[in-house]
Parts: sequence; C-alpha cells; structure tokens
Amino acid sequence: MNEPIKKIAVLTSGGDAPGMNAAIRAVVRACTYYRVECVGVYRGYQGLIEGDFETLNARHVSNIISKGGTILKSARSAEFRTEEGRFKAHKHLIENGIGALVLIGGDGTFTGGLKFIEEFNFPLVGIPGTIDNDIYGTDNTIGYDTALNTVVEAIDKIRDTASSHNRLFFVEVMGRDAGFIALNSGIGAGAEEILIPEKNLGLDRLVESLNKSKEKGKTSSIVVVSEGDKIGKNVFELGDYITEHFPNYDIRVSVLGHMQRGGSPSCYDRVLASRLGVAAVEALLDRTTGVMVGITNNKVSTVGLNKAIKMNNDIDPELLKVAEITSI
Ligand code: F6P
Repeated sequence: MNEPIKKIAVLTSGGDAPGMNAAIRAVVRACTYYRVECVGVYRGYQGLIEGDFETLNARHVSNIISKGGTILKSARSAEFRTEEGRFKAHKHLIENGIGALVLIGGDGTFTGGLKFIEEFNFPLVGIPGTIDNDIYGTDNTIGYDTALNTVVEAIDKIRDTASSHNRLFFVEVMGRDAGFIALNSGIGAGAEEILIPEKNLGLDRLVESLNKSKEKGKTSSIVVVSEGDKIGKNVFELGDYITEHFPNYDIRVSVLGHMQRGGSPSCYDRVLASRLGVAAVEALLDRTTGVMVGITNNKVSTVGLNKAIKMNNDIDPELLKVAEITSI
C-alpha cells in the first residue's frame, strides 16, 4: 500500500446508466494527467475474474462523452460472489501490476467492492452510476437525471393519447427498491397519482383519489407506478383491480422498461460523471480507499462504501406534498 500507484483499473458493473462513458473518460484522462497507466476491465467483475483487460489512453475515450451505455460493457457476475471468483480476480490484478480500482455502479457493485477490501485490502474507490438514485452520500447518481428526462418525455407523449381518448393510464417506471424516478418524473409530468415503494398508500386511498379526480371533472389521468411499489399488486393487476372498481374507466397500462436506461446523457450527467471520475482517481492517488465519491451541495464529497449502500436515501416529504398539491 505504500508503493506509488502506477496503474489504475476501471470497470462498470450492474445496470448500465447514461453517463457511465463520461465517467470512464474522466477516469482515463485523470490517469493520463497524473501520469498513471489506466486499464479498462470489460464486463465488470466477470472481466476481472477472466483478466479481460485493455490499456486505455486519452485517445481511446475520444467522442464517448455523449454516448449512452458503457464501452466497457457491464455484467452481474455470479462468480464474483464466490470466494474462488474473487481470488481469481485478485490474482489477475496483481499479475497485471494494477495497484487500485475504480468501480462505477450501484449498491451491488459496492457490496462486491467491500468484500474485496475485506479479503485482500485492495485499494478501491466507487463512483455512483445507476438510474435509480438509491445511493446514500451523493445528491444524484450518474444517469438519474437523464432517466428522469427520458421518462418525462415518454409520459408527455402518453398524456397526449390519454387525453384524446379520455383514458386512465398506469405507467410503470424503473426503481426496484426506490421511488425517486417515479416521484420526480411524476411531478415533472403532472401525474395525478404516484405510487412508490417507500410509501404504501394502499388501494383504498388510490380508489378514493381516482374518485375525487372524476368528481373534479378530470377526463384523463396518469398514475405513475414505481416497479418496486409495495401496494401488493403489479401494474397489470393494479389496472385490473381499478377496472373492477371503475367499469366506466377506459384503462391502459404502459411499462416503460429498459428504454429508461438508454440514450445520450444529459449535460448534468456528463458534468457529474466528469467531476466524479477525476475525484475518484485523485482520491486513490491520495491513498483514500473504501469510499464512494459523490456530490453534496454541489461540492465533491466522499462517504464510506458501507454507508453508501446501507443508509438509503430518504424520500423528501416536501416532494410528496408538492405532488399532492399540484395534482389537485
Ligand atoms: O439499473 C437499476 C435497474 O434499472 C432497476 O431499477 C431495475 O429493477 C433493474 O435495474 C433491472 O435491471 P436488469 O433488467 O438489467 O436486471
């Protein structure tokens, strides 16, 4: 750990997110700036296990800042969950003279990183890259802003057809365990109701709210449902349940799915990714390890990886109130 770091590896893991390429670019170029060799690892932890590495220089990452996905590809490696898999990964790092790792991903990625530190004390720093925004210690994760804009654009289009046909639409958005995408896109797209996993409002409350909408003269409605919503029904069952209670409603269900993870990153995500990529390399060169770099109140910050994954971001009650008031 006291020898100077001469080589840093970077990987992307878990669900991809727009802006991951911008983060890779920043890591590679920060390494070039500080005269450290940079190695790209393909397919996340699986590439680490297989030694699927490529040296990257500043020109390798030209023109990727605007591209969605990840040039390093991503994977959810079952083998890395085994001791044997992690042993192979460590062996490849040592054999290639790699002194530190930058992990770009979400909670699963950071959980793997913590295990790696525990077993090998290998220096590593995380960068939050997930559209879900469900990581503690950063105001935004890379990809979240772009995903929100994608969702709002899609719901705006659904709104056009919903209002032409006087229909009620249930729109399912991503967020396995977190309602940030649903809540913020719901406010941004003017949804009548927003269902999120953090707050189970119950079916009766939904029926009551839809009744009120009808009484107020609304002829079409959008209900945004987070995929992880805990109301006890998936979005199609929810649609069926409401059809039973409102036989006169013309109901449709739309699942936005993986298109939410694609597309060119927003300017916000590009800047965020660039800042965090540079910060991650600087942290490693300063001998910092076991942390995630994030942005707090528009300043680069660090938080322990264990905190980043365990302390869930709370839903802001002010946003819930805004959603309630503006959907009247
Ligand atoms: O990237 C996070 C996420 O988008 C979750 O919201 C979603 O549940 C999950 O990924 C689905 O990912 P996949 O289909 O790749 O397993």
